[in-house]
Amino acid sequence: MTTTPVTLTLTSPDDTAALAQTLGRALGAGDCLLLNGPIGAGKTHFSRHLIQSRLDTPEDVPSPTFTLVQTYQAGTAEIWHADLYRLSSVDEVEELGLSEAFETAICLVEWPEKLGPLTPRNALTLTFQPDPADEETRILTLGWTDPKWTPIVKALPK
Ligand SMILES: Nc1ncnc2c1ncn2[C@@H]1O[C@H](COP(=O)(O)OP(=O)(O)O)[C@@H](O)[C@H]1O
Ligand SMILES: [Mg+2]
Repeated sequence: MTTTPVTLTLTSPDDTAALAQTLGRALGAGDCLLLNGPIGAGKTHFSRHLIQSRLDTPEDVPSPTFTLVQTYQAGTAEIWHADLYRLSSVDEVEELGLSEAFETAICLVEWPEKLGPLTPRNALTLTFQPDPADEETRILTLGWTDPKWTPIVKALPK
């Protein structure tokens, strides 16, 4: 079963940060967000604000461009922030420990197409598209098949 995707308009970086915090409050161990969109679309900006709103102790959230994965402690949950742009093969997904993290942690994954067959099927997919008419606007599409996401997405401010 595939549900109809939901589209939101984010008119500023602050708007995206607010949505990240709201969605972040709903996440627990085993929840995964797949973050799609071109370079500069706002995937890291979204992740940074989501993570910082859940951290026990404030800390910087750098882009995991070179480390591929950064992990954070959020209460009893771990948050894994991955950027798979530089991943050379799907075998590395196992080596990084990501497959296990999909079961046990909150995972935010940039460039998720690199996961190939290891893509978690219970994930929420977020696609950020720049708006050619406005530099500060992003069109965000949310898609999912796992029904656990339906009430969470429906509760997001439109
Ligand atoms: N509505 C918006 N949502 C998110 N980022 C935005 C928005 N408008 C402008 N930006 C800017 O776009 C850039 C997005 O960069 P980044 O999050 O690193 O992108 P990505 O990780 O997708 O490559 C940031 O400089 C951010 O301030
Ligand atoms: Mg990024």
